[in-house]
Amino acid sequence: MTALGLSATMGAVTARRLRPARRSAPLVASATERVADGHTPVLLAELLALLRPCPGETALDGTCGGGGMTQALLDHVLPGGRVLALDRDPAAISRVRDRLGWAGPALTLETGSFADVDAIARRHDLQFDVALLDLGLSSLQLDDPERGFSLRRDGPLDMRFDPSAGGVTAADLLAELSPDALGQLLRDNAQERFAGAIARAVARQRTRGPLTRTGELAAVCERAIPRHLWPRHIHPATRTFLALRIAVNDELGELERGLRTLISLLRPGGRVGVVSFHSLEDILVKRLFSRLSTVCTCPPPQPVCTCAHRATLSLLNRRAVMPGAAERLRNPRARSARLRAAVMLWSPEPSPD
Ligand SMILES: C[S@@+](CC[C@H](N)C(=O)[O-])C[C@H]1O[C@@H](n2cnc3c(N)ncnc32)[C@H](O)[C@@H]1O
Repeated sequence: MTALGLSATMGAVTARRLRPARRSAPLVASATERVADGHTPVLLAELLALLRPCPGETALDGTCGGGGMTQALLDHVLPGGRVLALDRDPAAISRVRDRLGWAGPALTLETGSFADVDAIARRHDLQFDVALLDLGLSSLQLDDPERGFSLRRDGPLDMRFDPSAGGVTAADLLAELSPDALGQLLRDNAQERFAGAIARAVARQRTRGPLTRTGELAAVCERAIPRHLWPRHIHPATRTFLALRIAVNDELGELERGLRTLISLLRPGGRVGVVSFHSLEDILVKRLFSRLSTVCTCPPPQPVCTCAHRATLSLLNRRAVMPGAAERLRNPRARSARLRAAVMLWSPEPSPD
């Protein structure tokens, strides 16, 4: 497993179907150990302890994946509550629909991006007491070679969360970007030290034919980086795969748009939590939470406040929560996870910035 959350693969696991929780369900859920249909939720107990979903509340799971966190939310908001769960990946939604069908009208599942949660919530006339995002990709996506996320299992270089929506694939990017642009993308999205060498190696490979398979790309990266300089804990292609995935799905753009929108849909007292697996995502969350929880934005030397800025959020944790040693040992994918959470103080007017 990588520090970048790319190569987590789970062993064979059994999905456990749970009944709706009793009102007395413990807040730090027994769900911690629960494996969600092939994907083990990360930092789940910590998330529940911060967000404290209660019976009767309305919750949003913006990234339902294998459904583990959705199920934990249902456990806590039932009876009387409701969960809206989204995922860009139609396969994830249909799996979770089968798995959590017992929840009936308490669970609404939609294929779509959390960046579009505004329109989706409006359609269902929903505001939220609790909202969470668990970013990145699920083990189910990673383990399916046909999705093109895995550098260890050969498959088409696709990497789209929603292949049915069209859009560019990783193979398209590798075919179309100039070596300079590809190098920049690898640096920007994954801080790849050997971005230039990898981009040039891709360009050389292209003269022999298009790069269309994950195995080919992994081999190109292996050849581009001198063996004695290979990273110690991750495959030499890990950062390249990460950078391409982020670009194909515009993951940082979606997070920037989506988190702001999602916060605007919280009721006063509503809690939001984000689990990220990449430093760029974590920085984005940290900056937005920090800006929205700041009381005054006047420059420091100014003696009297003129900004009229009001804090919208209050932070629930000052430092990002990270998984403990036991979780990291149990689930290597958890190693790079960071959790930040905040509570809504009041309902903001739509802001121009
Ligand atoms: C780490 S998994 C979530 C796992 C889930 N919490 C669970 O317990 O099984 C991340 C999921 O987010 C989805 N995803 C990524 N970007 C998204 C976006 N902008 N909107 C909705 N879903 C997204 C991916 O398709 C993937 O299924």
